[in-house]
Amino acid sequence: MNETLLQQQIYTDKVKNFTLGQQKTYKIQTFGCQMNENDSEKIAGLFEEMGYLESSDNAIPDIVLFNTCCVRENAEQKVFGHLGVLKKQKEQKSDMVIILSGCMMQQAGTLDQIKKSYRHADIVYGTNKSHLLPLYLYTYLSTGDKQFFTEETGQEIIEGLPIKRESSIKAYVPIMFGCNNYCSYCVVPYVRGRERSRSTHDIINEINYLVNQGVKEVTLLGQNVNSYNSEVDFADLLYLIDKLCDIKRIRFMTSHPKDISLKLIKAISEIDKVCNHLHLPMQAGSTKVLREMNRKYSKEQYIDIINNAKKTIPNVGLSTDIIVGFPGESDIDFDDTLEVISTCQFDFAYTFLYSKRRGTKAALRDDQISKEDKSIRFNKLVTLQNSITLQKNISCEGNIEKVLVEGLSKTNKAVLTGRDEANKIVNFIGDKQLIGQIINVKIIKGKTWHLEGEIV
Ligand code: 5AD
Ligand code: SF4
Repeated sequence: MNETLLQQQIYTDKVKNFTLGQQKTYKIQTFGCQMNENDSEKIAGLFEEMGYLESSDNAIPDIVLFNTCCVRENAEQKVFGHLGVLKKQKEQKSDMVIILSGCMMQQAGTLDQIKKSYRHADIVYGTNKSHLLPLYLYTYLSTGDKQFFTEETGQEIIEGLPIKRESSIKAYVPIMFGCNNYCSYCVVPYVRGRERSRSTHDIINEINYLVNQGVKEVTLLGQNVNSYNSEVDFADLLYLIDKLCDIKRIRFMTSHPKDISLKLIKAISEIDKVCNHLHLPMQAGSTKVLREMNRKYSKEQYIDIINNAKKTIPNVGLSTDIIVGFPGESDIDFDDTLEVISTCQFDFAYTFLYSKRRGTKAALRDDQISKEDKSIRFNKLVTLQNSITLQKNISCEGNIEKVLVEGLSKTNKAVLTGRDEANKIVNFIGDKQLIGQIINVKIIKGKTWHLEGEIV
């Protein structure tokens, strides 16, 4: 066992002894991306090893942990809102421990704000430091001293931490951390540090372990998976997983258009296990805005990549991210975005209002777009994309799709729900014994947010 894991184990045991004979509980609330969700699964794994149990929905837990995100302002506002509510709960239960982790804590100024206005927070640490949680918690419990560790991001990749996964059917597998791209609007490179890739060997081992546990689908995660750089490159990683792991489905996100290679597009089309789905954030349609965003591709280059993907990967599902109202975006620039949306015909788009982030280049610009203009453009974009999504979903009617059955529908327990290869949600009536299997479903009706089908 390496030294970091050994240290984590020692403090895990110390916390366990400290709370001996009392069944303590924890609750984790995750904000932001899939990477954060996966980090939270590891944090849950650590709590369980320390003898804590996940708290039931209505009970007040002994520990509340917010795993935070700072990519957009509204995620930060939510954290502050929830922290305000917790203050009341801590007045009722004074020994409740409040922990804040994740990338928002890494932002300049956030810790000062917490120390000043949210003094009920007990432990605060930044990204990639979760392996030290047992140490922070033990120190806090045994001394009562608040623990604040947000100065720098941990750059080390720690393998072998415990993990409590949300699903037994599908799993996130991070393949790299950090980002070197410095898109001018984005805070991620500042808070998550430089790109680091996990070893191919460790990734293969993790996936094989998951297969033995019954997992059917893995999603390989990274801020920019195309710059994965370890024993092999990203396309070869897909070929290796295909060869060495008996996993049924492979997904990945996120890809950067500037790094997407013909080799990768070919790999997606050749490898059966790799789902026919490409999430390729476009961010904006105007070449001028793209240049100012530091995205390193033009409108035409982006359209070419999409056309090539459509040509090479049969029935490819396409999704994207779009930011509306980047500083200096004119009506004409925004029309370019609408035009590319119409041309590319994405199955789905994640749409965001530009959010000014401290420390980024775009935040310094004095040509910020007004809230009103952003909101008018946003509504136009969403209306257009929703009609395209609906049309694309209607065009699936009659198709037979392979669906991984994930569980019961949240709104109707008689209905099963899963996703097809293109990542579309498919709902259908069936026996719950099918959960965890990949089955053929005939699409009967395309709706805006999902497809309705029946088992073939
Ligand atoms: N404002 C709005 N959206 C942003 N994103 C990243 N930074 C910002 C920002 N400052 C979006 C991008 C990215 C997604 C994860 O979040 O579209 O692809
Ligand atoms: Fe942010 Fe750009 Fe890196 Fe994505 S590629 S995380 S948008 S800096």
